[in-house]
Parts: sequence; C-alpha cells; structure tokens
Amino acid sequence: MAEKVYHYPLWIRLWHLANALFCLTLVISGISMQFSDPSRPLIRFDLAVSMHNLGAILLIINYLLFLVLNRLSGNLKHYKIPKKGYAGMLLTQFHYYTVGIFRGEKAPFPVNRERKFNPLQHFTYIVVMYVLLPLIFITGAGMFFPELVISKVFGISGLFLTDLIHIQVGFIISMFMIVHIYFCLLGTNLFASFKSMINGWVEVH
Ligand code: HEM
Repeated sequence: MAEKVYHYPLWIRLWHLANALFCLTLVISGISMQFSDPSRPLIRFDLAVSMHNLGAILLIINYLLFLVLNRLSGNLKHYKIPKKGYAGMLLTQFHYYTVGIFRGEKAPFPVNRERKFNPLQHFTYIVVMYVLLPLIFITGAGMFFPELVISKVFGISGLFLTDLIHIQVGFIISMFMIVHIYFCLLGTNLFASFKSMINGWVEVH
C-alpha cells in the first residue's frame, strides 16, 4: 500500500487558493485594460482598474503572509537551493520530462517524506515566488505612485520602462499558470496533485 505524506497543511492550501484567485483576477482585469476595444471593453475600464488595484493589494497581503508562514512552519526548507549538483538535477528532470516520461521511465526525483518538489518544480516555484512576484509588486507600486519613479533612465521615460517590465512579468506569470496546471496533471494519476492541494495528503510510492 502507498504511504501518505501530509505535504500541504491547511495554511498552504488556503494561501494557494487565495493566491490563484487573486492572480486570475489580475490577469483578466490586466488583459481587459490593455487589449480591449475602449468602446466595447471586456470589462468596463474603470471597473477593470478597481479590480486590478484591489486584487493587487489582496495579493500582496497574501504574499506577505506566505513569506512569514513559509518560514515559521518550516515549509521554507523545500525552497532551499542545494549547494552541489543542482544544475545536473535540473537537467535530469528536464530529460525526464522531454524523453523519459514518453518511454515510461520512472520519475528521477519522486516525492517522498523529505522531498516535496522535483528540481524543475523547485526552481520554478523559487523564481515565481521570490523573483517574479516581488518584481511585479514593485513595478505595480511604481505605476500606482508614479511620482516615486525616476523620470528618465538613459533618456527613456522611467514610467514607460516600469510599465514595460510590469507587463512582461505579468505575461510570464500568466504563462507560468498555464504550464503549472499542465505539469500538475502529470502526477501518478491525472488529478492526484489537485487532490493533494484539496486534502493536503500526497501518496508516495
Ligand atoms: C490558477 C490555478 C492554479 C492551480 C489549479 C494550481 C494548482 C497547484 C497544485 C495542484 C499544486 C500542488 C502540486 C505541486 O506542488 O506542484 C500547486 C502548488 C503550488 N502552486 Fe499552484 N496552482 C494555480 C495557480 C498558482 C499561481 C498563480 C501560483 C503563483 C503565482 C502558484 C504557485 C504554487 C506554488 C508555489 C506551489 C507549491 C506550494 C508549496 O507547497 O510550498 N500556483 N499548485
């Protein structure tokens, strides 16, 4: 019989649910503000701006809670970068996803009591949580308080550059969400990861 490990305590599940909902709100309102025809908007412009501002404030509060609880609960240990062999581990996992999985090979870094993420999940979660989210918060704050942004950087408007970075990072996070959901479907069975994010338990084999 497969052993079960409680990898997703309640606080992670609640944080993650709120995080996913706020991110979706921001992606939808952001797309609406950027692309929709002003005469026939996806969401009325003023409403999209309010949704985006409120969603961002809630996401930042939720993110700060993640930083604190991740540390206090000990979950931070799953985000530590190994001192040796990390590049090799990433390559091995990449090879598995691009070749091994189609040959029915065994996963090189299966989940167990100590290991919660495979190296590529690990790397992606670190980049998203500790690089991309802070970057989108800082650039978003820059556009909320434009008076704080440097007026020119090498002759280019500082606000324009801030906006550019904000939109690019938003695009990367949107792509992450699609790829993230796809990879969550590659567990021991199609919905195993989603089940774990609902009840907290992961079956380890
Ligand atoms: C929109 C729908 C989303 C779905 C359905 C979803 C689904 C899941 C599932 C099933 C897991 C558990 C399996 C695993 O660890 O890979 C997970 C974990 C995780 N997801 Fe998502 N996710 C979504 C959005 C997001 C977003 C927007 C972010 C970040 C911006 C995110 C960040 C994470 C992180 C960091 C973990 C690991 C948490 C931990 O245990 O420390 N997810 N997600």
